[in-house]
Amino acid sequence: VRTAAVIPAAGRGVRLGPGAPKALRALNGTPMLVHAVHAMAASRAVSLVVVVAPPDGSAEVKSMLDAHALPERTDVLVVPGGQSRQESVRLGLDALPPGYDIVLVHDAARPLVPVDTVDSVIEAVRGGAPAVVPAVPLADTVKEVEPAEVAGAAETVLATPVRARLRAVQTPQGFDRGTLVRAHESVTGEVTDDAGMVERLGLPVVVVPGHEEAFKVTRPLDLVLAEAVLARRRL
Ligand code: C5P
Repeated sequence: VRTAAVIPAAGRGVRLGPGAPKALRALNGTPMLVHAVHAMAASRAVSLVVVVAPPDGSAEVKSMLDAHALPERTDVLVVPGGQSRQESVRLGLDALPPGYDIVLVHDAARPLVPVDTVDSVIEAVRGGAPAVVPAVPLADTVKEVEPAEVAGAAETVLATPVRARLRAVQTPQGFDRGTLVRAHESVTGEVTDDAGMVERLGLPVVVVPGHEEAFKVTRPLDLVLAEAVLARRRL
């Protein structure tokens, strides 16, 4: 069974501050997206990586990737993305050739996920799970609130879910291809991860251990942390 990874990288990255699209910003001199592609290609099971680029940046992304050699066994395709993460993933799925029956979806914004995490997601899909997510326990207590109508105004707490039952979900998320395609065809409305769409089909989603280095680079402080992790790896 062949495995492909789809990397949505078409987001603007507004929360990171002004500058280039998030995936194209550098971590220790190398674009975040290049780190993310290499993180997928590090798995011997992954033979194709489909990068979903900013709609006006496909050519730039293609030449950027051409400049960083990948393992011989890995092919790369670049396709233009859409308005939402969900649309970008769907455009990536549309570009998948036949024969790839396991699909990973990995955020370009998680450039440092270790290969062991990638492999354990693939392993669980091979074992028969239609959808697999890597996840970690939460450090913070989480509260559900009634969102304020004006940004910055005080909010009221509605509930406090039991922390021990909560998980922060990372990527790559792994899927049986048919299941993921069906989820993208039939589920509409706001979703923040692909496994959430599979849940709405009523199918089980399996959780495997994630990794602290698979964190999402979202805010400026995350860039500092990511560069520190890279520096430690080079020691
Ligand atoms: O915004 P967020 O951090 O949830 O984005 C997660 C991933 O989805 C990022 O890698 C981002 O580039 C991607 N994305 C996309 N197309 C969009 C919006 C986000 O590919 N329109």
